[in-house]
Amino acid sequence: MTQAHTPDQVWWRQASFYQIYPRSFMDSNDDGEGDLAGIIAKADYLAALGIDAVWLSPFYPSPLADGGYDVANPREVDPRFGNLDDFDALISTLHSRDIKVVVDVVPNHVSVEHEWFKQAVASPTGHPSRERFHIRDGRGVDGSLPPNNWVSVFGGSAWSRLADGQWFLHLFDSSQPDLNWTHPDVVADGLETLTFWLDRGVDGFRVDVAFGLMKDMTYADHHDPQALIDAMRLDLFDPERDPSLPNPREVLRGGPFFDRDEVHEIYRGWRRLLDTYSPERMSVAEAWAYPASRAMDYARADELHQVFNFDFMVTPYRADAVIKNAQEVLDNVSLVGAPATWVLSNHDSARVVTRLGGGARGAARARVLAMIAHALPGGVYIFQGEELGLEDAEIPDADRQDPIWFRTQGQDPGRDGARVPLPWEAAGEHYGFSKAAKLWLPQPGDWHEVCVDVQENRDGSFLSLYRSMLTLRSEVNRECSEKDFAWLTEVGAVDSEIVAFTRGDALTVIANLGRQSVSVKDLLWGKQVFLMTGTFDGEHLASDSCIWLR
Ligand code: GLC
Repeated sequence: MTQAHTPDQVWWRQASFYQIYPRSFMDSNDDGEGDLAGIIAKADYLAALGIDAVWLSPFYPSPLADGGYDVANPREVDPRFGNLDDFDALISTLHSRDIKVVVDVVPNHVSVEHEWFKQAVASPTGHPSRERFHIRDGRGVDGSLPPNNWVSVFGGSAWSRLADGQWFLHLFDSSQPDLNWTHPDVVADGLETLTFWLDRGVDGFRVDVAFGLMKDMTYADHHDPQALIDAMRLDLFDPERDPSLPNPREVLRGGPFFDRDEVHEIYRGWRRLLDTYSPERMSVAEAWAYPASRAMDYARADELHQVFNFDFMVTPYRADAVIKNAQEVLDNVSLVGAPATWVLSNHDSARVVTRLGGGARGAARARVLAMIAHALPGGVYIFQGEELGLEDAEIPDADRQDPIWFRTQGQDPGRDGARVPLPWEAAGEHYGFSKAAKLWLPQPGDWHEVCVDVQENRDGSFLSLYRSMLTLRSEVNRECSEKDFAWLTEVGAVDSEIVAFTRGDALTVIANLGRQSVSVKDLLWGKQVFLMTGTFDGEHLASDSCIWLR
């Protein structure tokens, strides 16, 4: 039976979500780190941007060993970011501007500072409090070898030793012990956290490492543990690899901790809870499963609502590749009735301008890709600063914060370059972010031209484009459904650099991803341009240009 939905019930399906990394958004108390009051202070900016929702990265009490994804208490606000009253004020401020609020939940692991872990550490071997984690005896005569050969996503063994000689599992940093999701306390606590924030008025959740919660409880060695981890790394994936060779992500099938079948039962429980709230609450899974059709299982009607489409973030800037990815995603989501999601960047990836080559060309391409992504049916996710066209910042080694940098002994610089505090005012101290003497991550010296106040008043700036695009995409999505979609260019054609499609009568998109100007006369049908990036003379669309017509 199809359910009748009022517009408010389906607000999330084609919504635009703006990811706020609170530490780097806006600092209201001049301690060098952003905070909740800083977000409230910029509510007008968010409203003017035209987004439907914000997704807040973690703001929970945390030693910040992994930027807050090491949570010491999932039902509190870290004093550095404010308190629960600030959170309530943030919700009401954003809701009064028609902006929904989605918060991150981090169910796979906690911080070593979490009460449960402190209790487990303080308790003797065999104590029930240890069963909430994966705490095991080691191997070797004196147990001095880890229980198995699993490795951490951040480098090194996935096991660290406790003072009494037992070992605990951490798929990420050694400060992030993994929870044992077969334990009823863990399941109950997860639901309690969701309820806590739902009752405070949040509109949804972004579920961190959603596909990692269940582990092979026999703890058997894996034949290639490093390949499992590499398969998770967006930056290691080679989209141009020889397609006749096996996909390196194949290794994820039937693996010991990512994407195990048992994990779905957790989300069925979560969905039952979410469905008791009205209007509809949403959830989005971080689950880069393989193959992509398997990722869709997380967005089945009785599980979470969406899955991030990370494949789009590794798709080469080529018309055939973009079209192929988009069609695959649309095919896959239609299997489960979920909306597609389009993601260009987040706090774990390179910034999109940087990924596309940096400089003027990287920027031009990022604008084209955004105009494609924002026009496709489904939801879009924007990482703060993407709307300013920021590039990854150079971070001096001495200032680096990412545990990846430390755990790989500096071999992998990590993700700090994309996490630098936002530039608000060209003339302000630290570009108006903070009056602190030192920021938690330094900003580049040459960001004057990309500051919000400079871009706001400049036609054709990145920010102006995003504002127009976000407002216009909402109008388009009000006029047409997700089903209103058709390619104007052949799927699978490799000789064309044009991506073109329609959204019913509401929108035609034509983008030129090639190096040459191309006549697009045959695709125009007398329609008028209402948004563009690059150059269009009425017939020829220049390289790295895109037009929206109606
Ligand atoms: C997710 C987060 C990332 C974090 C990791 C461990 O992938 O997006 O930032 O480091 O989980 O929590």
